[in-house]
Amino acid sequence: MTNSSELKVKKIMNGTVIDHIPSGRALDILKMVKITGREGNVVLIAMNVESRKLGRKDIIKIENRYLLKDELNLIALIAPNATINIVKNYDVIEKVKVELPEKFEGILKCQNPSCITNYERESLSSKFLVEDKVKLTLRCFYCDRLMLISDILKQLT
Ligand code: CTP
Ligand code: ZN
Repeated sequence: MTNSSELKVKKIMNGTVIDHIPSGRALDILKMVKITGREGNVVLIAMNVESRKLGRKDIIKIENRYLLKDELNLIALIAPNATINIVKNYDVIEKVKVELPEKFEGILKCQNPSCITNYERESLSSKFLVEDKVKLTLRCFYCDRLMLISDILKQLT
């Protein structure tokens, strides 16, 4: 339970709260799930707020938006300990921890221009295996190119 004296951002009625984000990474998460702020729904962001568990953390609250499994997997790349809270009528009705999957298919683009997944005529979707769950590195299944989080963020801008 959150003590009202600790509450930095108001509660939402319906939507998603992404909690326990490492401090300073909220904007990267928004980029990952393609929330620009121009969609029209209310988005509340708190950065570098106090947390019992993390020292400091970021929080994102998105009204009337629920995340897909692929989006939760992408969040795990930046915030491996994030908690996703589904809020209905002001209550948290579901709490899930994000989890890094073994592989990412069809979501990210290989950085290697000569990778077979970048040949349009092949119409082969991308596939990356999670190589190191601590360093958070991915490797293209087809061409072996290593992909870092910084590469992923670059391709999202
Ligand atoms: N929250 C919200 N709007 C609501 C309900 C909850 O914005 N209507 C937010 C809270 O502010 C908190 C998060 O959702 O940041 C999780 O809420 P809750 O489970 O009540 O808090 P804690 O018990 O502190 O969560 P945890 O144990 O996951 O740290
Ligand atoms: Zn490749």
